[in-house]
Amino acid sequence: WPRSARTVGGDVRVAGVALADVAATFGTPVHVLDETEVRARARTYREHFGADGVFYAAKAFTCRALVRWLADEGLGMDVCSAGELRTALDGGLPAHRTLLHGVAKSPADLRAAMEAGVGRIVLDSPDDADLVASLLPAGARQQVLLRLVPGISAGAHPKVRTATPDQQFGTATADVDGFVDRVLAHRSLELVGLHCHLGSQITEIAPYQEAALVMAGVLARVRNRHGLVLRELDLGGGHGIAHRPGEPGLDVADLARCLRRELRDACDAHGLRVPHLSVEPGRAVVGPAGVVVYRVAVLKRTPHRTFVVVDGGMSDNPRPALYGAQYAPRLVGRVAAGAQQTVTVVGRHCETGDVLAADVPLPVDVRPGDLIAFPAAGAYHVSMASNYNAVPRPPVVAVRGGEARLLVRRETVEDLGRRDVGR
Ligand code: LLP
Repeated sequence: WPRSARTVGGDVRVAGVALADVAATFGTPVHVLDETEVRARARTYREHFGADGVFYAAKAFTCRALVRWLADEGLGMDVCSAGELRTALDGGLPAHRTLLHGVAKSPADLRAAMEAGVGRIVLDSPDDADLVASLLPAGARQQVLLRLVPGISAGAHPKVRTATPDQQFGTATADVDGFVDRVLAHRSLELVGLHCHLGSQITEIAPYQEAALVMAGVLARVRNRHGLVLRELDLGGGHGIAHRPGEPGLDVADLARCLRRELRDACDAHGLRVPHLSVEPGRAVVGPAGVVVYRVAVLKRTPHRTFVVVDGGMSDNPRPALYGAQYAPRLVGRVAAGAQQTVTVVGRHCETGDVLAADVPLPVDVRPGDLIAFPAAGAYHVSMASNYNAVPRPPVVAVRGGEARLLVRRETVEDLGRRDVGR
């Protein structure tokens, strides 16, 4: 829950706004984002990683207002498509504070990035280097980082581990020499540093320390073999949060302190100057600031379990189906019976796998029309939402100081129909 969440009567208020009021005004499902919480989290990162040290990963969630908050708080942004870049620019973030990622950047993505003047392009592979160079206008120079795979297994689920040897992102550290040669063959590419991203929802510091150690070794190797002193090191994102009460999250201050110490020691050992360090948190900035509110459509008691069927589901939150993600939903909007029962909260979609929360406690008197809120919903819900079953995507509402403000309107059936241009 956002730090501002208060239980008042039977309802929960976030930033002084009752969730039931948000549901009444904007309908359900509805995503609620606590602006003060987002800003505070961004500020904590800025404090501990410094200017040019934090690139928010737009893939977690993005919209113009969010970009403006983060830009205000001094963050840059990691984008991985022309679309994410567009939102960053529309939100007022200067292009030089963005960096472009991607295992398969399209020529359109790259042209948009070059035209806007993105600060860095993170090259995923030697072929990517050739592609970027081939698209740069004559005489232009682009600062680039190389994405490497340190061979570390970290992340909450195999589907979000991106630093193990057998996955598609980046280039193995063992192949760094050939990668550097390919980049240096292009005079238009200015190699300024290295990048790695371990995975997502990592709740321990040790894998990051290991990454710092491995990457310092690679920096030394690049200096020794190529005579190149690289001044930047980006260690990606993946900082975990609590999705349920009592779960651990990664402490930003601890992480920053341990990383800097590890990096300094490793660089000292290699006789290297410590590079400028940056990180790319997504979930840890917005995840805890978001709540999604559903309305109960149907209650179904079967001999096996009690289903609470809500008006959203895997189209607005595919995380349980994809990663087995677990949540702690709660009833909001009225005073409930004290006793609890074990239920399974499912969505409206036509699949047995559309389970939002299995075997969770909810009040014994839960019934159709009730509101059910899921905390820790600010990251990778809206951004991964689909139109499965031609269901329009929910709106995003910002709350602050007792007021609610629509950031992203609800999609309409007309919106969906607009793209269907055939006969
Ligand atoms: N940097 C890079 C290069 C990334 O690929 C990612 C996430 C991040 C930073 C930010 O990671 P974060 O701090 O948000 O964990 N859809 C999954 C998470 C996928 C993460 C993909 N890359 C989920 O819902 O758990």
